[in-house]
Amino acid sequence: MRLLLATLFFADVSKAYPDFLNPVFADNVNARLWRTALSGPSIVDDEHGWPHYTRGAYNNTPQESLPPGQYVKTDASGWTSGFFPDSLWQAYRRRTELKARDDFPGEPSAEDWLSMADAWTSPLQTNAHLTDTHDLGFLAKPFESAMRIQKTDAYLPMLQNMSQNLAARFSPAAGVIRSWDCTNCSSSSWCSHEDSVLVIIDNMMNLALLARSASIYTHNSTLVDIAISHADKTIQHHVRPDGSSYHVCDYSGTTGDVYLCRTAQGLADESTWARGQAWGIYGFAEFYSFTRDPAYLATSKRMADWFIDHLPSDGLPFWDFDAEYLPNVTPRDSSAAAIAASGMLLLQRQIDESKVACRGGRDYKAAAEGLLRATVELALAGKISFVDSSPIGAETYADTPANSSVSRGFESILMHATSNNNPRANPKNFDSGLSYGDFYFVEAGNRLLEWED
Ligand SMILES: *[C@@H]1O[C@H](CO)[C@@H](O)[C@H](O)[C@H]1NC(C)=O
Ligand SMILES: *[C@@H]1O[C@H](CO)[C@@H](O)[C@H](O)[C@H]1NC(C)=O
Ligand SMILES: *[C@@H]1O[C@H](CO)[C@@H](O)[C@H](O)[C@H]1NC(C)=O
Ligand SMILES: *[C@@H]1O[C@H](CO)[C@@H](O)[C@H](O)[C@H]1NC(C)=O
Repeated sequence: MRLLLATLFFADVSKAYPDFLNPVFADNVNARLWRTALSGPSIVDDEHGWPHYTRGAYNNTPQESLPPGQYVKTDASGWTSGFFPDSLWQAYRRRTELKARDDFPGEPSAEDWLSMADAWTSPLQTNAHLTDTHDLGFLAKPFESAMRIQKTDAYLPMLQNMSQNLAARFSPAAGVIRSWDCTNCSSSSWCSHEDSVLVIIDNMMNLALLARSASIYTHNSTLVDIAISHADKTIQHHVRPDGSSYHVCDYSGTTGDVYLCRTAQGLADESTWARGQAWGIYGFAEFYSFTRDPAYLATSKRMADWFIDHLPSDGLPFWDFDAEYLPNVTPRDSSAAAIAASGMLLLQRQIDESKVACRGGRDYKAAAEGLLRATVELALAGKISFVDSSPIGAETYADTPANSSVSRGFESILMHATSNNNPRANPKNFDSGLSYGDFYFVEAGNRLLEWED
């Protein structure tokens, strides 16, 4: 078995990606992760926590005292805390299991990557107790990676708790998992009625935790039943007939009827928020991989087709598909590109492996490569290496070109991402770097390295 694994992992496979994607695998990417990793992990508080978003040059974030180009941190319980640690696990995999290159000059050893990933993951164990968030699938990611890579079940009790805590947010009447708790004070989580259950399309990304729990962590099949119900309702209500999507649907927790569907982080209720569409592509492809229900594969395809058909000619999505397309002015969302790229690679894998219908049609691997190409050409921050770094901090604007010397100090891998540019958002957060955009960019690269024809 060990021999077989070794052959699989170190086989001298021909490169499964085109040359124009070489920058995805260059030292710039890993050196950026390592540069940030050296800044922590630290004590659990807002100032010294986990990378959340890299402040852009615009005056659009609450922490104005931070220099532009530097990560604003989240505390352990923030929904994004797991992404940077999981990027470190992915960088470790890239260097070991997926080894497709020589080590980069000055690169730390595999053991150093491993202990760094572990150091950034371990303090997040307090998240096993969270019950007030639906983002438990995201928060579980570094622990799932740690378990797979280290072949231990040290984090099994945590993952059992996290999946049960997510399932506990299920509303039986509405048939969905509650995403946001209703509040009266924020524009995005407002509820139309006292019994509202709010669901955001992002929640599709949390279903994998329930599916894995049912088959591996708890062996409790109720968890996957909950996820199936949620996915079916999402097809019915979030996904429009043309394959585009709503961000938020507001259900009655009493009758299960939908009160309304609307936006929170997008441009308008009837627009299509770029990252939401990307979450849908990825979430349905991933959930298909557990359930093999063709409806999920078909939905992922429909959403991917819509995404591809509405891209601007240069291939990098703006933050909302209905925003006015003004290159160098309208904010982009490189994170939507990275998430959609990784999701389309997963989608194509599922199509290739499925014995039934759904074959033919588009080449989603090629579409994913196109998204990554546009991301590299328009959003990849300036080249650094392990031996030639650059101090953190950079003023980047919507028209700052990729790979420019000014952006070497930008802390994220990708520039030009948008967290929330909704007209009512206060504060808005656009043209920054996002720890999740970086994560899915690295993950998409790893999927290409794993590709077998
Ligand atoms: C970025 O610029 C450097 C020189 O400034 C060059 O060596 C490198 O090939 C460029 N990388 C990409 C991805 O264009
Ligand atoms: C899981 O939850 C139980 C009950 O709430 C708690 O006693 C236990 O400490 C939790 N386990 C972990 C690993 O957090
Ligand atoms: C929101 O405010 C209304 C009116 O003040 C109040 O009746 C309701 O209980 C509040 N809901 C929540 C969830 O706080
Ligand atoms: C399975 O999970 C469901 C949903 O959380 C829970 O109600 C039920 O008690 C669990 N069953 C067992 C045997 O633990």
